[in-house]
Formats: sequence, structure tokens, C-alpha cells
Amino acid sequence: MNQVSIRDAEERDAPAIAALCGQLGYPTPTESVVPRIDRLREYAQARVIVAVVEGSPVGLATIHLRHMINHEAPIGQLTLLVVDERVRGQGVGRVLVAESEAWARARGCKRFVVTTALRRTEAHAFYEKLGFTHTGRRYGKDFS
Ligand SMILES: CC(C)(COP(=O)(O)OP(=O)(O)OC[C@H]1O[C@@H](n2cnc3c(N)ncnc32)[C@H](O)[C@@H]1OP(=O)(O)O)[C@@H](O)C(=O)NCCC(=O)NCCS
Repeated sequence: MNQVSIRDAEERDAPAIAALCGQLGYPTPTESVVPRIDRLREYAQARVIVAVVEGSPVGLATIHLRHMINHEAPIGQLTLLVVDERVRGQGVGRVLVAESEAWARARGCKRFVVTTALRRTEAHAFYEKLGFTHTGRRYGKDFS
């Protein structure tokens, strides 16, 4: 694997980001991505980053800060992570998580969390490898 660099997502990344969202199971039209990047960019409590190899985005992560009433420090949350299936297992996910943690830490977070679907068993192994422990369950409801 050639060198991996991390930068904030830009509008020119929209086609790659749409493809990565598709690989994660969320079919996403490219034209929807630009306004979403813009919306997140305006929101100081979130960040969208891409991992770039040889000029092409091969991984994507979003991170959010959650300010809480029961904790002084905000909690950092990895809210999306996907690596291009052609380059998985080569360290890209690790670099994206390290950058996400560093961003949260620099904003005062004392805790960093991720929620992941029960079916994503490979992701569970990945997070445990990176030092996360399984501490809870997520419940969800789709509004009709
Ligand atoms: C999960 C995912 C982001 C990991 O990214 P990646 O670039 O493939 O992972 P890395 O190569 O950085 O792996 C980091 C470490 O985790 C381990 N790891 C990665 N995938 C693993 C797996 N399926 N099982 C066990 N360990 C795994 C690696 O062996 C590596 O450890 P090492 O450095 O000691 O060898 C990627 O596989 C992916 O996009 N999966 C599909 C989408 C997904 O599930 N996203 C998470 C949603 S919450």
C-alpha cells in the first residue's frame, strides 16, 4: 500500500464518496453528496474526512461531537467508516480511526465511541483490534 494521507472531504470527492456509501449499503446519488458535505462543513461539531492514496479517495469517515448534560467533556463519535473493498486489510481504516480520535481528543473529548450494526461482524473484530470494547446495544426505530 502506498502512502495514505488524510484530508477533509471536498466537493471533487463526491463521486468517490457516493461509491463508498454504496459499498456500505447506502446507495447514494453523487449529486446528493455535495450538499451533504457542505451541510456538515458548516457544522463545527462534525467533520468528514477521506483517506487518499495516489490522489484517489479510498476511505471515508465522519466524526461528530456530542455535548452531554451528564459529562463535562464532549463525547466523540465515529458516525461512519468505510474503506474501499479493493484496499481493505491494508491499514486504511486504522489511519482513519486514528485521525478521527485525534480530532476528538483535540476538542476536549475524554471518550470516543462508535455504534455498529450487529450484522457487521468483521467491523466488530476491527474495532476490538483498535482497542474499543463492546459496552452496549443500540436500539433504533425508523419513522414512517
Ligand atoms: C471495517 C473496515 C473499515 C476496516 O478497514 P480496513 O482498512 O480494512 O482495516 P485495517 O487494514 O486498517 O485493519 C486494522 C486492524 O484491524 C484488523 N482487522 C481489519 N479487518 C478485520 C477483520 N475483518 N477481522 C479481524 N481483524 C480485522 C487488521 O488485521 C488490522 O490489524 P493489524 O494492524 O494488527 O494487522 C473495512 O473493512 C470496511 O470498510 N468494512 C465494510 C464497512 C464497515 O463495516 N464499516 C464499519 C461500519 S460501523
